Amino acid sequence: MGIPQPSFYIFKCQQSAPPGMPKPSCVTPDTQDLFQHLAQTLMQKGIIGTVQPIQTGCLNRCNAGPVMLVEPGHVMYTGLNKDKITRIIEEHIIGGNIVEEYVIDAELWDAPISPADMQAQMAR
Ligand code: FES
Repeated sequence: MGIPQPSFYIFKCQQSAPPGMPKPSCVTPDTQDLFQHLAQTLMQKGIIGTVQPIQTGCLNRCNAGPVMLVEPGHVMYTGLNKDKITRIIEEHIIGGNIVEEYVIDAELWDAPISPADMQAQMAR
């Protein structure tokens, strides 16, 4: 038996904007420890390894931040704080039920366009 793949990857946006930038960002003085909370909670629950937390740059949904993306499933969670992250780990990652009330609005997260379709659109 080989080394098992992770069950989940959790991509946490760690982008911060310089002071004075009008665009919002996911990491501010109030939210700078959310990735640490995510990783620590996974460790405390004994599931780090089968759940892989990953720090990313901007995921292009800054106005809804702080955000994180759960894969598989393309589930984008928004407006995060520590309590919400803990609940997502318990209910979604362990329990198997997406926490719908924290999921991004469908208007901001519509169905993906395949790369082939995007190329075809560009060629028109
Ligand atoms: S800064 Fe986090 S989505 Fe853009």
